[in-house]
Amino acid sequence: MENRSQWGTRIGFLMAAMGSAIGLGNIWRFPYTAYDNGGGAFFLPYLFALLTAGIPLLIMEYTIGHKFRGSAPRSYSKMSKGLEWIGWWQVAVSFVISAYYPIIIAWAIMYAYFSFGQQWGDDPTSFFVGDYLQLSDPGVFGSLVPSVLFPLLLVWAIVFFTLGRGVRKGIEVANKIFIPALVVLFIIIVIRAITLPGALDGLEAFFEPNWSSIMDGKVWVAAYGQIFFSLSIAFAIMITYSSYLPKKSDITNNAFITGFANSSFELLAGIGVFAALGFMAFQNGVEVNEVASSGVGLAFMVFPEIISQMPASEFFGVLFFLSLVLAGLSSMISISETYVAGLQEKFNISRGTSILIGGGLAAVASLFFATQGGLNLLDTVDHFINNYGVALSGLFEVVAVAWFVKSLRDFQSHADGISDIKLGFWWRFCLGVITPAVLGVMMLQNLKSEITTNYGDYPIEFLFNYGWVVAIGAMFAGALLTLKKWPNQAAEASKSED
Ligand code: PHE
Repeated sequence: MENRSQWGTRIGFLMAAMGSAIGLGNIWRFPYTAYDNGGGAFFLPYLFALLTAGIPLLIMEYTIGHKFRGSAPRSYSKMSKGLEWIGWWQVAVSFVISAYYPIIIAWAIMYAYFSFGQQWGDDPTSFFVGDYLQLSDPGVFGSLVPSVLFPLLLVWAIVFFTLGRGVRKGIEVANKIFIPALVVLFIIIVIRAITLPGALDGLEAFFEPNWSSIMDGKVWVAAYGQIFFSLSIAFAIMITYSSYLPKKSDITNNAFITGFANSSFELLAGIGVFAALGFMAFQNGVEVNEVASSGVGLAFMVFPEIISQMPASEFFGVLFFLSLVLAGLSSMISISETYVAGLQEKFNISRGTSILIGGGLAAVASLFFATQGGLNLLDTVDHFINNYGVALSGLFEVVAVAWFVKSLRDFQSHADGISDIKLGFWWRFCLGVITPAVLGVMMLQNLKSEITTNYGDYPIEFLFNYGWVVAIGAMFAGALLTLKKWPNQAAEASKSED
């Protein structure tokens, strides 16, 4: 008898995995990364990264979750006692992200509302940092900003409610609603965007291949970086989600579907975003490269301006910010599930208690990001936790599995036993050689730029306190959690429910 929670349907699992993968990164990170790294020529390294690292790693994480049937730390510890730490480290990283990710969703909720009458006025940039966030200097927290706090509470209410209903009735149902809704909303936005004047110039800027960029190592590293982040690899998420798969599940096929669906959405977002940027450049009589941007600036400074200049701006404003909300919520749910599952198994508590403790702590931590200092804090924590949390733990993960525990052959036969597509030498080669090499180079490059420049021009103590301390703190927090022993398995099984 298996007591562990399970997905109700295959499509339910796929929707949840896609929901995690399709996030803000697809909408605001991919388009600019592609544009900035060779435009149309970027697709070559990008596709290469998807096939040699993204999908192979996804297959590996799905196999780990499916084979060991536990949260990430539990699964790693079953693989080899010494690896439990990597699991907790990734869970700790996810915990940190889950403290600031809901802030962006909260902003998007407010901006859907600000779309009515374009309340951001003529200067969306100063509206965002000044009127809305009341941004203070780096390191100064000031007071809580009510118009961030209230939508934030709403986001947490949705997250608690969804997680509280369990894997099948909560996470699966939510994603089955959010993801199709997101795709429909986004397609409407893209169709509108490509039919605006100037859209073609934007698309030309996006697709125009700069073939010489292919010779640049940085471009390849950017492609791998985008693939890792976008597929939610090394966040402990995919291991957790696949641990709820039924015994008979085509792992390899599921990984291909998740990978291609996520990349299709990225391509769609690239088209929509650059068509809109082309329109804005056309309206203002400037070149596309003067308006192209990414991240918070693109979504909350540039897009409001584009929306203001569009016909039916209220309608499209709501549509755009609502799609950020949907894309964000499904990723937020996945990232919170990592510690809910981990704490539940480690401390032998009920799912409800685990949600209250883990989610409660994250919700309290998120309040720091709802202050006047929130944006600077978020920007810094995000940079350090991605580079020295996600990417670095990803490197530890592949090296540990492929070189130390030498589990790849084992995992291959596990995946092959239940999947249509059979893995071969190429799969082990991608994970054992290509991925560690690229991640290693990426890490050296990141460290080099960290030492030579102050990220975001922030003062050095600020970067130390909120960047390095947080990223290294996650490693230590992970180590600390490994000190406690696992409860015996019989007791554990009787507690899990859905
Ligand atoms: N794949 C997600 C994205 O593109 C990354 C992510 C997952 C971020 C979960 C946060 C939480 O945005």
